[in-house]
Amino acid sequence: MVKIGILGVGTVGASVVKILEQNADIIEARAGQKIVVTSGVVKNLAKERGLDIKLSDNPLDIVDDPEIDIVVELMGGVEEPYMLVKRALKNGKAVVTANKALLAYHRYELQELAGDIPLMYEASTAGGIPIIGALRNGLSANHIESIQGIMNGTCNYMLTKMINEGAQYDAILKEAQTLGYAEADPTFDVGGFDASHKLLILASIAFGIDAKPEDILIEGIQNINQTDVAFAKDFGYAIKLLGIAKKVHNKTYGEGVELRVHATMIPQESMIAKVDGVMNAVAVVGDRVGETLYYGAGAGGDATASAVISDIIDIVRGNQGPMLGYKKGLEFGLKLLPKEEICSHYYLRMSVDDKKGVLATVTQLFSEHDISIEAMMQNPDNDHDERVELLFITHECQEKMIQEAIQALERLEVIYGSVAMIRIEQ
Ligand code: HSE
Repeated sequence: MVKIGILGVGTVGASVVKILEQNADIIEARAGQKIVVTSGVVKNLAKERGLDIKLSDNPLDIVDDPEIDIVVELMGGVEEPYMLVKRALKNGKAVVTANKALLAYHRYELQELAGDIPLMYEASTAGGIPIIGALRNGLSANHIESIQGIMNGTCNYMLTKMINEGAQYDAILKEAQTLGYAEADPTFDVGGFDASHKLLILASIAFGIDAKPEDILIEGIQNINQTDVAFAKDFGYAIKLLGIAKKVHNKTYGEGVELRVHATMIPQESMIAKVDGVMNAVAVVGDRVGETLYYGAGAGGDATASAVISDIIDIVRGNQGPMLGYKKGLEFGLKLLPKEEICSHYYLRMSVDDKKGVLATVTQLFSEHDISIEAMMQNPDNDHDERVELLFITHECQEKMIQEAIQALERLEVIYGSVAMIRIEQ
């Protein structure tokens, strides 16, 4: 019998215990052994959980227990679980973690420390979708060309409601919190940080990139309004918060990878544009397999526990392999391109004085920054009679050029407030 100890028995932990009991027959058939959760660690021992396992409030009761074979880390946070996972590995225990933040910061140190001891993390990225297994195993014959994913259910829920029902941002954020989709601090969701952790994990497996959240472009959905939604619809786009990892050839740096999380206009007919509500989806393009798409629940107790248990079964079967998928190290790893080298089409929105010469001034500024306009529209500014909103789509240009142009636009006297920008993937 394989004995499991869970650090952090919340919603997901309780689902792990329940599924291991209720699906015990199929799980034992697949793993070859009986798997049982014997103990768990919780913060509040007084709370009734209805689980038939030994509970403690001291993580070392599991990490140092010689009876425990596999430690499942579901605590959240970074430094405390890092210390505990390291200690569990030093004690020779296999570890399964769902902790994306821990891996976004410490995956390479943990891989080094784990060596041949299994350390698995399917539940860390896109919940129940087996995207880690797909990249680590299913697509391992391919050079990966790109990953594009809806990796945050809260943002996808909010954007879907804003697009399909005309909902206002603040009201819909409150609704997502009430429904329990958002993280305790929703900035983590709407600011793109949650998605960035998941993207970094996938980028390590796909491209061998060792980067931290601070190294990549991360923006959220906080500035999107109904003007942007209407414009996107008119021009055939959906708006999604995407994690994007794309292999490109850069003039200065050669072959490298763009890593970025931001609100993105994507063609309405693309498969990923049709993924609505709280669901997640990840599209991966391999050089041999072509485009593949993975869709499912990115959060929730049972869906996340499904991923945790798949890792446990894999460990019990003896299918380990190196944590990030490379037996021979990462010397081949691709370069992370600097943020300012990113190339994209851009949508820009600005509120300007409604008087002659203003449009000429704005387009002159684009021309001076070597930015070419692909489409434009002028709307009334509903809040100010004497102003209009100018909306532009640019041809492809470099991030540093658009950022410089935005700064220059915001210095113009005829422009009010800040210039809003959404990147476009064609
Ligand atoms: N808050 C996250 C989401 C949960 O909305 O997708 C899973 O990481």
